[in-house]
Amino acid sequence: MSKKILVLPGDGIGPEITREARRLLEACRHEGLDIAIDEAPVGGAEIDRSGVPLAADTLERARAADAVLLGAVGGPQWDSMSDISKRPEKGLLVLRKELGLFGNLRPAILYPQLVAASSLKPEVVSGLDIMIVRELTGGIYFGQPRGRETRDDGSRYGYNTYVYDEHEIRRIGRVAFEMAQKRGKRLCSVDKANVLEVTMLWRDIMNELAPEYADVELSHMYVDNAAMQLVRAPKQFDVIVTGNMFGDILSDAAAMLTGSIGMLPSASLNESGQGMYEPCHGSAPDIAGQGQANPLATILSVAMMLRYSLDEASLAGRIEQAVGAVLDDGLRTADIAYEGTTRVSTAEMGDAVVAAFKKAGDQK
Ligand code: NAD
Ligand code: IPM
Ligand code: MN
Repeated sequence: MSKKILVLPGDGIGPEITREARRLLEACRHEGLDIAIDEAPVGGAEIDRSGVPLAADTLERARAADAVLLGAVGGPQWDSMSDISKRPEKGLLVLRKELGLFGNLRPAILYPQLVAASSLKPEVVSGLDIMIVRELTGGIYFGQPRGRETRDDGSRYGYNTYVYDEHEIRRIGRVAFEMAQKRGKRLCSVDKANVLEVTMLWRDIMNELAPEYADVELSHMYVDNAAMQLVRAPKQFDVIVTGNMFGDILSDAAAMLTGSIGMLPSASLNESGQGMYEPCHGSAPDIAGQGQANPLATILSVAMMLRYSLDEASLAGRIEQAVGAVLDDGLRTADIAYEGTTRVSTAEMGDAVVAAFKKAGDQK
């Protein structure tokens, strides 16, 4: 039976970048991959259509899909909405929570062709290959109680709850240890155990898991130091495991080491291997509709989908190679362009990757 893929383009540059990524899925289908691709609005686009950021029917279609490809949600049009539960971002958070997508993999890999696009010196970043494992369905993003209130004296306050159950820490810990076993066998757990009890528990659980993964060297680092070390000497890291909010922040910092946030893909996986795939960046309202957005993070997210949810590692590798070939040819969207390279639009970048993907197939 065909595998079902649900594409959720979303807002801002979302439709532009998913259009290009979807072309890679279509190219795979032409080569015999048995998939059925379906599409639905999400986020602000869905608010404008129906008043809610995620339609019940879309959630059901996502549940029934083997994999979901999401562009990005949000934008200034919806920023004045004070009820957080009705904003575009909530659509994404509900999808993650309802599908149980607790394991977020964010690989920060510097393509050798992009060393000059990184904001750090070549000797600091060349060869960079970090995997950030971010917990995605718990922590302060989801903890209760939460809210904004006004006291009797008229002063306002807001609060959120940073909470993790030990089973949530253990299952993301296992994902990270197993990832480290497949890679360089070094795992750095990032927390704030000098201040926050919840992350003291986080550290205890990671230590408790360690004996089961004796071949992995576990270390711990406070998140403020980790942010500093990522820009000082990022190659010291192999796999990083951390909670929802710290992982959100550190992955954007790591993205820049790879040349641009437009290069960072992600996979969000649940316990049964079902996954949602999306670039780490947002809807980039400042460049939306201009054909300038870099589609590579989304295209590389399709490669992750093929690898993690569709068991098609060889097609995944071909997409990654096609991206490399296009970068070898000097093609660059604005965010990764520099002197001596050829500036291309979002669609031209998509064209080039599809062509390189097909060429690699012809040569087989
Ligand atoms: P952003 O990631 O959208 O943009 C930050 C900067 O990076 C901007 O200058 C943007 O132009 C640039 N950028 C991002 N992606 C790019 C790409 N593919 N190519 C070239 N340049 C790119 O972050 P923001 O501005 O803080 O957020 C904008 C909106 O996106 C907000 O509504 C936010 O909530 C939402 N957001 C959504 C997601 C998601 O859907 N997963 C992630 C982050 C932010
Ligand atoms: C991301 C985004 C989301 C997050 C927002 C849009 C909810 O920043 O995917 O990195 O904070 O997880
Ligand atoms: Mn983010």
